[in-house]
Amino acid sequence: MRRRTTTVVLGTAAAAFAALMVGDWRPSAAVLADPPAGQSYVGTKRCASCHFEQYMTWKKSKHALSFENLPPAYKSNAACLQCHTTGFGQPGGFQDEASTPDLVGNTCENCHGPGSEHCKIAEGFAAKKTLSPEEQKAAKESIWRITPDNGCAKCHMTNAHKAHEQYEKSK
Ligand code: HEC
Ligand code: HEC
Ligand code: HEC
Ligand code: HEC
Repeated sequence: MRRRTTTVVLGTAAAAFAALMVGDWRPSAAVLADPPAGQSYVGTKRCASCHFEQYMTWKKSKHALSFENLPPAYKSNAACLQCHTTGFGQPGGFQDEASTPDLVGNTCENCHGPGSEHCKIAEGFAAKKTLSPEEQKAAKESIWRITPDNGCAKCHMTNAHKAHEQYEKSK
């Protein structure tokens, strides 16, 4: 934290100097660093405690129902769960409805990446009414605004259902 603060202070001084010399042409928002790697899945409830509005939007979307909507015979089929749950097959990801109820369906962390470290950092500021720019940056830098791996396409741009004739018939 100390190092980041120093960098911010120096960066501000440099920006002020540049502004004096050539006019303030810089974009005002600092470029965010990549979130820390190796975070684990925490599930929707914990995210909802701080992002209730996004939670309510998500709750009404089809992504929230993607597990529920699987025909019963497919609710434990690995070939379906990889796209119809959160983090299936990854450490700390969905296992089954009973043991990982907050990872049922396509939840927050499919699109934003696992968020344990983000929660920890943001929870450190939980008692404050307003965050300083540095605290806000630290919170933002600990989670993806959207994962950089073209995550929508990973699930949507496939012929996954065509490969499952059985399922096609069961519809
Ligand atoms: C203790 C409160 C807290 C919890 C829990 C929390 N967040 Fe955040 N989140 C914040 C704060 C504070 C920010 C930064 C300020 C802002 O954007 O409002 C933030 C920002 C974000 C952003 C925007 C990042 C950006 O680059 O703009 C996303 C996406 C996000 N959170 C998703 C999540 C997800 C997913 C979870 C659950 C895994 C979660 N948050 C849990 C407080 C929290
Ligand atoms: C982990 C896999 C996965 C990811 C990642 C994913 N989706 Fe989905 N999406 C699904 C599944 C599965 C459904 C179907 C849910 C259902 O109908 O039961 C769905 C449904 C939808 C629907 C509703 C379609 C309809 O018939 O109304 C939209 C829109 C959508 N996704 C957009 C997106 C976008 C945009 C992104 C990226 C930001 C994204 N999805 C990321 C798996 C995924
Ligand atoms: C590669 C990702 C992927 C896999 C694997 C996958 N699905 Fe889906 N599924 C999706 C997406 C994306 C949607 C929403 C868009 C659409 O309807 O095509 C969806 C929608 C659905 C829906 C709701 C819409 C409909 O077709 O009635 C059901 C039910 C469904 N899938 C069942 C299954 C079953 C059963 C399996 C396993 C045999 C499976 N899916 C495997 C990505 C996948
Ligand atoms: C299907 C993918 C997907 C899912 C699921 C999803 N998000 Fe997002 N989220 C996005 C995208 C895309 C953005 C907008 C990114 C942008 O505008 O740059 C976003 C933006 C956000 C932001 C930034 C502020 C805002 O509203 O623009 C927060 C916070 C956030 N999501 C939290 C959540 C939480 C909490 C959940 C689960 C309850 C969730 N998201 C579920 C894709 C998703």
